[in-house]
Amino acid sequence: MQKIVSAVKGRNRSGYGEIPEKLPGHVAIIMDGNGRWAKRRGMPRAMGHQAGTEALRSIIRMSSDIGISYLTIYAFSTENWMRPKDEVGALMSLLLRYFSSEIDELDENNVRIRILGDIDGLPDAQRQAVIRAMDRTRENTGLNLSIALNYGGRQEILRAAKRLAERAAAGEDPASFGPEDLEAGLYTAGMPDVDLLIRTSGELRLSNFLPWQTVYAELIFDDTLWPDFTRERYMEALREYAERDRRFGGRNEPPEKV
Ligand code: FPP
Repeated sequence: MQKIVSAVKGRNRSGYGEIPEKLPGHVAIIMDGNGRWAKRRGMPRAMGHQAGTEALRSIIRMSSDIGISYLTIYAFSTENWMRPKDEVGALMSLLLRYFSSEIDELDENNVRIRILGDIDGLPDAQRQAVIRAMDRTRENTGLNLSIALNYGGRQEILRAAKRLAERAAAGEDPASFGPEDLEAGLYTAGMPDVDLLIRTSGELRLSNFLPWQTVYAELIFDDTLWPDFTRERYMEALREYAERDRRFGGRNEPPEKV
């Protein structure tokens, strides 16, 4: 019953103040600053990631409530394996806990979960948990939540390019390939480009996150450390986005993908 009610986009828009009319269809977030948040409190970094999960819950909920269609978050990059073993272990445990504690609520709220990244490179338990979450929420029609996990943007493009090379080797004419052919091999196949990319913690980098999908994205860099990123800060970013004049290279509308 609850699922049927929440199938209506923007089902609970009260309590958020004034919501801009022009919302981004696809928001991507680099949730940076968990480590610094913990360090400032004399806590282990793992506590920062745990606090980051709380902030994430709130931002997912708000995205779903106000009617954002796609939210994509950077949870673990292919480069993050180089972090100290105990931090990688803590992040992997957190991931497992996250999928067991949040999945019921996400499903009830009609959220569809996708994982972007090399799932086969995850430990067994984590791989099974994310596959279960994707399968369970596959038919949901509310917020599309994509979690970039063991994800690298260049690796993603290379993987898609290899698929094109295979098609060419099988006899297709490479001259006939357009951007949509490469896109079909991306983890985000079928999803719209990113409209708004937010990175917290004051760092001014994109860090191998969705390089293909963000070419026309509006970028917002927020000084807040991720665990302190509140719904109010999120709404401020959405209001700033609404005021931006997007020109897509001169035409005020996205270029056709040919
Ligand atoms: C960057 O902060 C954050 C990460 C590498 C992990 C992000 C993960 C979460 C918010 C929680 C887990 C997510 C899910 C889906 C369970 P940092 O450690 O680089 O911070 P620093 O730059 O201050 O050191």
